[in-house]
Amino acid sequence: MTALYLRNFIVLSNLFVLCVRCANLNISGEAVTTRFWDCCKPSCAWKEKAAFDRPVLSCGIDDKPTEIDAGTGCNGGSAFLCSNQQPWSVNDTFSYGFAGAFITPDLTGGKIEDAWCCACYQVNFTSDPLKGKSMIIQASNTAYDITTTNRFSLAVPGGNTTSHDACARQYGVDQTVFGTENAGVSSKEDCGKLPEPLRQGCEWRFDWYEDASFPTANFKRVSCPSELTSITQCTRSDEKQLLGESASEILSPSVRTILFAFAAAALSV
Ligand SMILES: *[C@@H]1O[C@H](CO)[C@@H](O)[C@H](O)[C@H]1NC(C)=O
Ligand SMILES: *[C@@H]1O[C@H](CO)[C@@H](O)[C@H](O)[C@H]1NC(C)=O
Ligand SMILES: *[C@@H]1O[C@H](CO)[C@@H](O)[C@H](O)[C@H]1NC(C)=O
Ligand SMILES: *[C@@H]1O[C@H](CO)[C@@H](O)[C@H](O)[C@H]1NC(C)=O
Repeated sequence: MTALYLRNFIVLSNLFVLCVRCANLNISGEAVTTRFWDCCKPSCAWKEKAAFDRPVLSCGIDDKPTEIDAGTGCNGGSAFLCSNQQPWSVNDTFSYGFAGAFITPDLTGGKIEDAWCCACYQVNFTSDPLKGKSMIIQASNTAYDITTTNRFSLAVPGGNTTSHDACARQYGVDQTVFGTENAGVSSKEDCGKLPEPLRQGCEWRFDWYEDASFPTANFKRVSCPSELTSITQCTRSDEKQLLGESASEILSPSVRTILFAFAAAALSV
């Protein structure tokens, strides 16, 4: 009797865990994309934003990783966006990058940063001129200013400006080299005025990204490649479950049959 109870409990909790995984981790949908580069400490660089091994790295004015509790450079503090959290292309149709995310509550079960901080997403562009190109991005930040639609604001140096003067403080340059409000720099040549470590990602916008204006995309959560986590140093604790999900997708017919048969037998005793 006791052993049977235990077996029932184990079988049912396995089924329950499978369903919880389906609901929370397999997130996909349509999104709009914008750009930002505000030099602020990224939102996912603070403690306890999600279940992860450590928050996203942020950097001091020396562009070296700074302590986790350092305040944001957008509010007088010493922690800024690290210059290497910028996009790069692998080939004509694929790039890596980082983004401020917002995913609507219907997809996240009502969760906000807990659902996306340090998660990775495959983003397939669906509008011209980027149709056929895709990126894998890690959510290192949050884009709270529009909350009615899924959005990835790509971290692109010189891609946009904000009212803060953090970029000027971080690099000791005039804020105007980062371009104009809501647009950033206006040409690839202007990327040459940015601090040297930021130029490559700025030029990426005019080359691979074709200076696209608010491109739309289909997205889905994918497990994070080391190309991205080696830069942010942030890995979510549900990454293993996400890998397990892909495995259970492959095994699903047999695994499900066995589990259901087992559960049915257990319940009918
Ligand atoms: C994830 O969701 C997509 C779209 O709803 C579906 O096609 C796919 O089978 C799901 N994968 C898993 C592992 O649940
Ligand atoms: C620049 O950022 C603002 C504020 O988030 C946003 O409304 C705007 O769409 C952005 N511009 C671009 C080109 O992404
Ligand atoms: C581009 O790179 C990605 C990632 O390495 C790879 O999956 C894809 O096949 C490559 N595409 C081309 C056209 O080489
Ligand atoms: C993106 O495109 C690739 C290649 O066609 C496909 O395997 C993948 O499922 C697509 N992802 C999304 C989120 O649509």
